[in-house]
Amino acid sequence: MGSEQTLTEQERFARLDPERLRRLVGLVEHDPAGDPFPLTGWDALVWVVGNAAQAAAYYQLVYGMELVAYAGPETGSRDEVSYVLRSGAVRFVLTGGVNPASPLLAHHRRHGDGIIDIAMEVPDVDRCVSHARSHGAVVRQEPHELADEHGSVRLATIATYGDTRHSLIDRSRYTGPYLPGYVAAEDAPVPRVAAATGEHEWLFQALDHVVGNVELGRMDHWVDFYRRVMGFTNLAEFVGGEIATRFSALMSKVVASGDHRVKFPLNEPAAGRRRSQIDEFLQFYAGPGVQHVALATDDIVRAVDVLRSRGVGFLATPDAYYTDPALRARIGEVRVPVDELRSRGILVDRDEDGYLLQIFTRPIGDRPTVFFELIERHGSLGFGKGNFQALFEAIEREQAKRGNF
Ligand SMILES: [Fe+2]
Repeated sequence: MGSEQTLTEQERFARLDPERLRRLVGLVEHDPAGDPFPLTGWDALVWVVGNAAQAAAYYQLVYGMELVAYAGPETGSRDEVSYVLRSGAVRFVLTGGVNPASPLLAHHRRHGDGIIDIAMEVPDVDRCVSHARSHGAVVRQEPHELADEHGSVRLATIATYGDTRHSLIDRSRYTGPYLPGYVAAEDAPVPRVAAATGEHEWLFQALDHVVGNVELGRMDHWVDFYRRVMGFTNLAEFVGGEIATRFSALMSKVVASGDHRVKFPLNEPAAGRRRSQIDEFLQFYAGPGVQHVALATDDIVRAVDVLRSRGVGFLATPDAYYTDPALRARIGEVRVPVDELRSRGILVDRDEDGYLLQIFTRPIGDRPTVFFELIERHGSLGFGKGNFQALFEAIEREQAKRGNF
């Protein structure tokens, strides 16, 4: 096959093409013909939050996202309110309960702010659901059609770890701002924040990966789930017990869609002397869920500076990380001088394909659960395995401050 790779409408909007996606998120060539679960790409991350109106302002003002669509009581959604935001090809939907009886409020009471749905765009919903069902997936919503004056979408939902789910959406016959029932932001009864930006100011352009934390002993189950149900393959990166033996430990494997556009690292706690960060997550999220979302940026230095100036907290990296001669030798030549990385706490990892720059925020809500990663890839297709030790130490210092270590 040639390099004719399908782009989502959001990717075209963000002026991404296969070459830019290869650089940003490590896209590889893939022949969809033999794929049992053909996938076009990410559709949206749907968050349940305690206050969607304020969260929508936060992601516009702090993360520079743009409000693009809205649904709520004014548009016929009597029980729930949802704000749709984007930055480049990344789409977030921030949703919360309005009616006290809304199940979203029960979800929020249990889990706090977090991701309920990792939605993906597919060319053939029915084919994916039939494959998923026959390979053991639980179908939460059967394929069905939603329509309004902008056309129709076909969608279905399958269950994954914890209370998390995957909506599968075919939007090829739809031109509206998000889904039927949503109005464009300019028609919404809520103000858009003027600071929302545009191509040259986006702090991140694409989703790179979404990480799930699952219970002790369940990582291989979910790796197998994605291989079986979605035809995903294992990526080489594996983090096992040899990491962080002095500390509490985790095990991690990565599965990815055929062209690596969608990548899911899966973590489970491993036995350690202390309670691990994965155990802390499982306790405070009340079960498995999305641990972090990696946002691909073409300028991590600018993104960190802007976000920090707007109040985003990042994990501190020990100075020794930058002064350790062995580490410095491993890092080699990177586009940003090491002192610039050091002053911001940006981590570097290198493998046979190239290197990547990455940094992690502190948990974004009240609970020590979900957080963001910023990642700037330069050829490396990894996830920062070489940084696990440094990251571990940084996270566990914070965990100790919360008295959970
Ligand atoms: Fe990550």
